[in-house]
Amino acid sequence: MTAEDKTRLAALLDTAGDFLRDGHWRDREAPAFEDDAAAARGIAYAGDTPEAIAGDIRSCSACGLCEVRILAVPGEGVRQPRVLVIGEAPGSEEDEKGRPFVGPAGRLLDRMLAGIALSRSTNCFITNTVKCRPPGNRVPLPAETAACVPFLIRQIRTVRPAFILCMGRVAAQTMLRTDEGIGRLRGTFFEYTMDAASGAAAASIPLIATYHPSALLRDASLKRPAWEDLKKLFTRLQT
Ligand code: URA
Repeated sequence: MTAEDKTRLAALLDTAGDFLRDGHWRDREAPAFEDDAAAARGIAYAGDTPEAIAGDIRSCSACGLCEVRILAVPGEGVRQPRVLVIGEAPGSEEDEKGRPFVGPAGRLLDRMLAGIALSRSTNCFITNTVKCRPPGNRVPLPAETAACVPFLIRQIRTVRPAFILCMGRVAAQTMLRTDEGIGRLRGTFFEYTMDAASGAAAASIPLIATYHPSALLRDASLKRPAWEDLKKLFTRLQT
């Protein structure tokens, strides 16, 4: 078994247990596995990479969405992002292209990020809470989110962003492990805390949530508060 297989299996079991026990997942240190072949050769496993995670996402069959997707959408951006942007789930254009936020909401997201000097080509990594499109763009089911969250955890641990920006309710509730509405979660900095026992250098990452660009396309009155939220992130990025 490869180290990635073992990591994914352990994360799936942990996450399923968390959901059954608490209704939310929690971040925990992934055990350090070695690739069986590497271990047999006495070579330490070098670690996870965005490419390895993307490969695992593309071949994932952990929930029913794999049967209805065209392409899984792992995410894209720079390897060491200042900001990890997390959306909900791919829509139809993302499903066809295998890239995140490339439809109408994505074009608005790119403009919102540009307003605070961020972009996927220079200083962000953009991904989703759930990596495959739910049919008809419905909200992902709890079981789908539970199956997919281990990938998000691996991405966070691998790209180590300075900040996390959650776009919309699903991303914010998943990351903050709460049922609170986006109207109350947005615009405030939280700390996304990785397992304190991990001994990781960055045990805590500042996280802010705002409205999803799709919500802004439906309701223009949300644009002003969303802009206020982004300005708060911009200010923190300068310090
Ligand atoms: N909405 C999302 O949340 N993510 C995408 O990738 C596209 C639309």
